[in-house]
Amino acid sequence: MKTIDELLADGVAGKRVFVRADLNVPLDGTTITDDGRIRAVLPTVKALAEAGARVVVASHLGRPKGAPDPAFSLAPAATRIGELLDTDVRFATDTVGDSAKATVAALTDGQVAVIENLRFNAGETAKDDAERGVFADQLAALADVYVGDGFGAVHRRHASVFDLPARLPHYAGYLIANEVGVLKKLTDDVRRPYAVVLGGAKVSDKLGVIDHLLEKADRILIGGGMAYTFLKAQGHEVGISLLQEDQIPAVLGYLKRAEEKGVEFVLPVDVLVSTEFPDLKTKAPAHPTTVAADAIPADQEGLDIGPETRKLYAAKLADAATVFWNGPMGVFEHPDYAEGTKAVAQALLDSSAFTVVGGGDSAAAVRILGFDENAFGHISTGGGASLEYLEGKTLPGLAALEN
Ligand code: 3PG
Repeated sequence: MKTIDELLADGVAGKRVFVRADLNVPLDGTTITDDGRIRAVLPTVKALAEAGARVVVASHLGRPKGAPDPAFSLAPAATRIGELLDTDVRFATDTVGDSAKATVAALTDGQVAVIENLRFNAGETAKDDAERGVFADQLAALADVYVGDGFGAVHRRHASVFDLPARLPHYAGYLIANEVGVLKKLTDDVRRPYAVVLGGAKVSDKLGVIDHLLEKADRILIGGGMAYTFLKAQGHEVGISLLQEDQIPAVLGYLKRAEEKGVEFVLPVDVLVSTEFPDLKTKAPAHPTTVAADAIPADQEGLDIGPETRKLYAAKLADAATVFWNGPMGVFEHPDYAEGTKAVAQALLDSSAFTVVGGGDSAAAVRILGFDENAFGHISTGGGASLEYLEGKTLPGLAALEN
């Protein structure tokens, strides 16, 4: 994989450089609630601009349906990039239309433009190779060089991620190079004990990674909504908690394999429950109660791990040499259900292990809960991407940069 350093060494002054970023940031209306992904791509954008490139930044945001949708505009991200770089960033109101063409044509050396959400064009995510190819051709006409730096999207076989690099000289940006370097340490040469904490809503999202981790990890701690499918598989009632009944056979299979392989599977011993999901807008007090994990009342739902589980998980992480964490332990967006996620974040900070926080919600949680992100070994910008990397899958966006 050629990196941006090689591109810079060859000289980029006057060249139009297409930077495929992942600016898929959480928004409240037009307010960015966590700009971590924007900050993460700035070293690449800055280095190119300082070297005199005409930088065209592109990304998806959310999952619009292949047509313009103002709720998913990248305009707030463009403004934020301008603020953080302290420069005037141009914004094109379409992807490959008149606005994009005129905006790029008007760029002078060292200037930066952002084009509108790539998923406003159906060609970006099309399953059909030819349809994606048409869009990739249009994008290629906007640039002379491609820099892939949207690590969070490298697991997507999308036009701007997979097809476009084949059409232009291509390089990996600093973010992708760094992410891959760190994740390699978890796959090729892991220091033991290796503990993994998995949370989030759905077991089905994590099946592949659990399968792979059973060959790699020494200890797997489970929290979040997915924990209830594990508890149910063990024969406990889970009330109205999130449950993926159809995943129970797979979960039972994993528990059995873990036992055979000597991998320790750790499940919650107590949970915070309530009859209602909390109001995340008003954050009105939720008054949860704590119950043993095998005694969830029929009319209640588990919304966070309980205090005994917090202690247990902290103890299980204390002597680890490597920790990978993906997915919150509860509904951390509400203060009454944030303690489980906070306890895991704190345990990572207290340990001397090499700690990797795997993207998406857990990375946002770390920042939203007020932790110093620099105190963690590495916070990945990729949720699904980092999991698929750990599963050992070929990621289209990385394969495209390697070819
Ligand atoms: C993410 O948020 O994980 C990436 O931006 C990819 O988004 P997607 O799951 O909508 O493809």
